[in-house]
Parts: sequence; structure tokens; C-alpha cells
Amino acid sequence: MRPTQLLSLGLSVASLVLPSQAIELDISDEASIKSAASTVAYGMMKYYHGNETGQTIGLLPWPYYWWHAGAVFGSLVDYWYYTGDSTYNNVTATALLFQAGPDYDYMPENQTKTEGNDDQAFWGMAAMSAAEVGFPNPPKGKPGWLALAQATFNTQALRWDTKSCDGGLRWQIFTFNNGYNYKNSISNGGFFNLGARLAMYTGNTTYVDWAVKAWDWMQEVGLMTDDYYIYDGTDTSNCTDVSKIQWTYNAGIFLLGAATLWNITGEDIWRERTEGLWNATHVFFTDNKVMYEVACEPGGNCNVDQHTFKAYLARWMAASTKVAPFLSSLVQPYLAASALAAAQSCTGGTDGVTCGTNWFPNSTSSSPTTVTWDNTWGVGQQLCALEVIQSNLITKVRGPLTNTTGGTSDGDDAAGGSGTKDPTAMKKITQADRAGAVIVTIIVLAGWLGGLIWLII
Ligand SMILES: *[C@@H]1O[C@H](CO)[C@@H](O)[C@H](O)[C@H]1NC(C)=O
Ligand SMILES: *[C@@H]1O[C@H](CO)[C@@H](O)[C@H](O)[C@H]1NC(C)=O
Ligand SMILES: *[C@@H]1O[C@H](CO)[C@@H](O)[C@H](O)[C@H]1NC(C)=O
Ligand SMILES: *[C@@H]1O[C@H](CO)[C@@H](O)[C@H](O)[C@H]1NC(C)=O
Ligand SMILES: *[C@@H]1O[C@H](CO)[C@@H](O)[C@H](O)[C@H]1NC(C)=O
Ligand SMILES: *[C@@H]1O[C@H](CO)[C@@H](O)[C@H](O)[C@H]1NC(C)=O
Ligand SMILES: *[C@@H]1O[C@H](CO)[C@@H](O)[C@H](O)[C@H]1NC(C)=O
Ligand SMILES: *[C@@H]1O[C@H](CO)[C@@H](O)[C@H](O)[C@H]1NC(C)=O
Ligand SMILES: *[C@@H]1O[C@H](CO)[C@@H](O)[C@H](O)[C@H]1NC(C)=O
Repeated sequence: MRPTQLLSLGLSVASLVLPSQAIELDISDEASIKSAASTVAYGMMKYYHGNETGQTIGLLPWPYYWWHAGAVFGSLVDYWYYTGDSTYNNVTATALLFQAGPDYDYMPENQTKTEGNDDQAFWGMAAMSAAEVGFPNPPKGKPGWLALAQATFNTQALRWDTKSCDGGLRWQIFTFNNGYNYKNSISNGGFFNLGARLAMYTGNTTYVDWAVKAWDWMQEVGLMTDDYYIYDGTDTSNCTDVSKIQWTYNAGIFLLGAATLWNITGEDIWRERTEGLWNATHVFFTDNKVMYEVACEPGGNCNVDQHTFKAYLARWMAASTKVAPFLSSLVQPYLAASALAAAQSCTGGTDGVTCGTNWFPNSTSSSPTTVTWDNTWGVGQQLCALEVIQSNLITKVRGPLTNTTGGTSDGDDAAGGSGTKDPTAMKKITQADRAGAVIVTIIVLAGWLGGLIWLII
């Protein structure tokens, strides 16, 4: 993931404003939710051309990175789970298999220059979801969804790094990528989340041990506070220089992992942690229970990554209620209010149903209680609206399947575990790659300063 401000999609194009059409949404009506989700998913997939001649399967066009596509296909696995609409199943399965790369571990050679542990995890978690929801299995001769998730996890377990900060995963996988000297919550959160879910699916306690290790490390290094607030990450030189920015997706990724560990272990400590994480999400909601990206939305400076984050908090809030039912009545009002607001933001663009970034009422518009489209658009805006809307079907669907409760996904304990792969040999590093890394350095610094400004305010 790149904290680039340059790629912000918050462009204002007044010419796109047409008479508004809006998306009808009645939260108490299953058919209405499905119909709204279908409209928003269609709008999201207008950006995808990977299945067209001459394009690469599973990739989104600039300015979207590889991981955004992993997130999009993850949301489409959920889309089928929630709505039963199989329109995107083939395109999704094809992409999830193609981008798994030659070793089926979500380390495709083409992505060496940008792939971090978090990026890989987003694809791995999409595969994990496919196993859990009983998404149609891959054709014969291809690994199962479970094996793809295991491969992701196993490659990451080998990267657990005790050379600094007493453990943890680095943000980046490759030494030559900027961000190698940073250990962040989303990378460790992806590992924790996958570990907990693999433990539940397979019943193998090795995954629990790893998840607990990742959790303990997060607390020890100060990336998770005693009140369960989760900070962005820390440098790896002395591991005390913590960037205290809070993002929705970090809260979500740990929430589902903790809820899953409560389900598996039945231990009070995991209930307490799950509740604590849920409580800590209050920073991301308005008084009206509408979700917002507190670190960048109010300033209107969310970048292309950050525009997608709310999708994952919504996704994992909903999923958490299936494994930790005590969350259900707490979480649902927030999913409902956010979905209604999100749907109201979808009145933009040439199609009249393009969704915006902000879901809270616009105080300068004629009706301060109505949400209006904020003149922004993109994959992130569609993805967030899709996940928060479809999440309202969570009470209508079954919980995650496991190996013993009807799950049929093929696994492979040893997938991705060879560990001997020399990262630098994966792809010859060219001069252009190095130049790319320099640009990323500059962008990271810009993102850093942006974060500092938010903290100071
Ligand atoms: C690509 O996938 C989309 C669904 O997102 C579908 O509508 C379109 O027909 C597909 N195109 C090709 C060439 O298969
Ligand atoms: C997608 O559909 C094509 C044509 O029916 C089929 O050959 C292929 O196996 C499907 N792909 C996946 C991953 O299911
Ligand atoms: C890698 O890039 C090449 C050249 O653009 C393309 O042909 C190939 O399909 C890509 N592979 C993946 C997994 O994206
Ligand atoms: C750790 O690094 C930060 C930032 O570089 C610095 O302010 C702090 O003094 C360092 N702490 C120690 C104990 O070296
Ligand atoms: C979460 O908030 C509820 C309601 O305010 C409170 O009763 C509970 O003790 C909190 N739990 C934790 C672990 O912070
Ligand atoms: C608020 O509404 C005004 C007028 O409709 C519009 O120009 C502006 O872009 C909106 N701002 C936000 C943040 O939605
Ligand atoms: C654990 O999760 C499963 C799957 O959703 C659910 O059926 C079960 O009731 C949960 N266990 C507890 C103790 O809530
Ligand atoms: C469940 O896991 C066991 C052990 O890995 C395996 O032998 C069995 O085939 C799995 N069952 C299903 C339905 O996948
Ligand atoms: C559990 O998973 C670990 C790590 O993948 C593997 O080494 C071990 O064989 C598995 N144990 C069982 C009982 O399946």
C-alpha cells in the first residue's frame, strides 16, 4: 500500500453532476439491500478491464495498485455470499487464481516492486473468505482456496522478524522497497486475522499460537494501546517512534481476528479484547453512527488507499458478529446507519448512482440532514458503499464454514512454506524499479507529514 497523496481521487468535476437518481435502500427489506448492492457492485466493476483482450487478469488500471484488486475480489466473494448473485463469480475466481502467481502464494513476480505483507494479505484473506463462505471451488488441477490462504500465511510466518522490535512483520517484504524499515499494524493485522481464521477452519492450533504471538507483539511494541486503539506503525531502528494515526481497517482486521479467537477458545480474555476493540471503533463514527475515516476525510485528503479503508471495517464488523454473537446487537445499528448514509451518497456521476466518499450530511447543502454526493468517485468509493450495504444482510446468511461444518475447500499445510525463495531473484531489479522506489520514498514522506498534521490538529 502506498500512502500517496498524489493519487488522491478527490477531484471535483462539476460537469459530471446530472439530475440525481439515488439508490433506494430499505434496510429492513432483503430485496432492497440486494438491489442496492447490485447497483453499487456494477459501478465498481466498470473500473475492471482485466478480463478484456490485451489486459492482465486480476489487475485494476492506474491509479489502483495490485492490492486494491485483491480487496475488490474479496468484496465480490462476499457479494455472492450475501446476495446469492453469481454474476461476478467467474471473473472473481479467475482473478484470485491468476494473481496467486506461479507458486500459488500471492507472490506474483510482476508485483515485486510494490508488494508488502499487507498487500499479499488482502489477496490471501479473499481466498480465506472464499473457503469460509463455500464459494465454488477452483477447477481441478488448481489449489483450493484454503491452500491459497495457507500459502499466504506460511510465507508470512517465515518472515516473522526478531532482528528488531523483538518480533513482528515488516511492512515491506523486499529490502529494496521503501517501508522495509517500518513495522505496521496492517501487516501484522493481516497475519493475525488469517491465523485466527485458519485456526477456526482447520482446527490446527499452530495457527492460534501464531495469532497470539502477533497480538502480544502488537501490545508490547505499543501499536495497540491498553484501550485497544490501534496505531499505524513503528520504525524499526529503536521501535519507539510510533506513528499514532488510526485507520478504520486496522480496527476491523483485529476485531475479526479477536472475535474468531474468542469463538475457538471460549476464553474470557478474548471476549474482553473483542469488546475492547469494538469499543475503540467509536473514533470512526459520527454521533449518528455513520462511519468515517477520521484521519483524512474531514480534511478531504484521503489518498487512493485510504479511500477504500471503510470497506474493510464494515466487512469485518459484520463477519465478527457471526463468530462472536454478543457483538451483533452492538454492531448492527452502526452498519445500518452507515449503509443508509452511504446509499444516499450514491447520486453522482454520469450514471447518477456513483457513490461518494463522505457519508455524513453536508452542512452547507440546502438540507443539512440529507447526505449528498461529494463530487468524488472511484473504486474505493464504490467498494466502501458495497461492503457497508451488503453487510446488512449478515443476519440472513450462515456463519463461516469450517473443515468440520461443511467446508469443502482443499488445504495444504505446507503450501508456500518452502522458504528458500530468494526475494531478489524473483525479478531482476531494473533501474526503473529503483527510480520507482525513490518516488515512493518521497510519497511516503508526504503521507507522513499529512499524518502529523492531523495528529497536531
Ligand atoms: C468482464 O467482466 C465483466 C464483469 O465485471 C463482464 O460484464 C464482462 O462481460 C467481461 N468481459 C469479458 C470480455 O469477458
Ligand atoms: C470461468 O468460466 C469458463 C467458461 O465457462 C470456465 O472454463 C472456467 O473454468 C471458469 N473459471 C473458473 C475459475 O471457474
Ligand atoms: C505479468 O506481466 C506480464 C507482462 O505484462 C503479463 O503478460 C502477465 O500476465 C503478468 N502476470 C501476472 C500474474 O500478472
Ligand atoms: C528513538 O527514535 C526517535 C525518533 O528518531 C527519537 O526521538 C528517540 O529519542 C529515540 N529513542 C531512543 C531511546 O533512542
Ligand atoms: C466496552 O463498552 C461497554 C459500554 O460502555 C462497557 O460496559 C465495557 O466495559 C467496555 N469493554 C471494554 C473491554 O472496554
Ligand atoms: C456540500 O454541498 C455543496 C452544495 O451541494 C457541494 O458543492 C459540496 O461539494 C458538498 N460538500 C461535501 C463535502 O459534500
Ligand atoms: C462460533 O461461530 C460459529 C460460526 O458462525 C457459530 O455457529 C457458533 O455459534 C459460534 N460459537 C459461539 C460460542 O458463539
Ligand atoms: C479436514 O481436514 C483434515 C485434516 O487436514 C482432512 O483430512 C480432511 O479431508 C478435511 N476435510 C474436508 C471436508 O476438507
Ligand atoms: C498445523 O499447521 C502447521 C503449520 O502449517 C503444520 O506444520 C502442522 O503439520 C499442522 N498440524 C496438523 C495436526 O495438521
